[in-house]
Amino acid sequence: MNEYQFIAPFYDLLLTPFMRSIRRNVLEIVLELQPENVLDVACGTGDQIRLLSKSGINAVGVDMSESMLNVCRKSNPASDCLLQDATALAFHNHCFDLVMISFALHETEWESAGKILEDIYRVLKPSGHLLVVDYTDFRKTPFYVRQTIRTIEFMAGQRHFQNFCRYHHKGGLDTLIDKEKFYTVASSHHASRSIALQLYISLA
Ligand SMILES: C[S@@+](CC[C@H](N)C(=O)[O-])C[C@H]1O[C@@H](n2cnc3c(N)ncnc32)[C@H](O)[C@@H]1O
Repeated sequence: MNEYQFIAPFYDLLLTPFMRSIRRNVLEIVLELQPENVLDVACGTGDQIRLLSKSGINAVGVDMSESMLNVCRKSNPASDCLLQDATALAFHNHCFDLVMISFALHETEWESAGKILEDIYRVLKPSGHLLVVDYTDFRKTPFYVRQTIRTIEFMAGQRHFQNFCRYHHKGGLDTLIDKEKFYTVASSHHASRSIALQLYISLA
């Protein structure tokens, strides 16, 4: 995937200031759960992995973009940052206590997003936790925030923008998540309610 080739070196510089409170929220949840092992699916530059490792939590990261992984490896020399397609994760069944995925489901094809969640379920231990950070429905989001997000997503390219629009049109994570496999434990909102952090427990 070359989509991130040019943006990868600047990704953290551009986005870290906006991500800070979300990353901290993720860290707080992970620290509270104290999982034995963590997988960050579509980890990108590994910004979240770096924050976790500062607090003694070692996470494995997987991503499809070699450019993003190169940044990830540089900033997380002690972590495994692996080139993998999240629709077919190369891990055994039921081997992770906690899996997280942030800002990736909205940009993938709808069917692929479903497959990613299925494969996450497969690699999660029974009663393991899934943490998803992504856009939520914009009904309570101020117009100017909505428009800013739409502009950013538009600039990310045609395929990216189409997937973002379809994700919203179809009802996002709420539609995508299989409620027979995942039970909502907690949720919080960020960025004027445009972004949701959802914590699920995997049902056996
Ligand atoms: C917007 S970035 C988010 C990166 C990171 N999770 C974060 O919160 O900053 C989306 C990432 O998802 C990755 N991605 C998209 N589809 C993927 C797939 N099927 N398998 C693995 N990575 C994928 C992209 O390569 C990109 O690095």
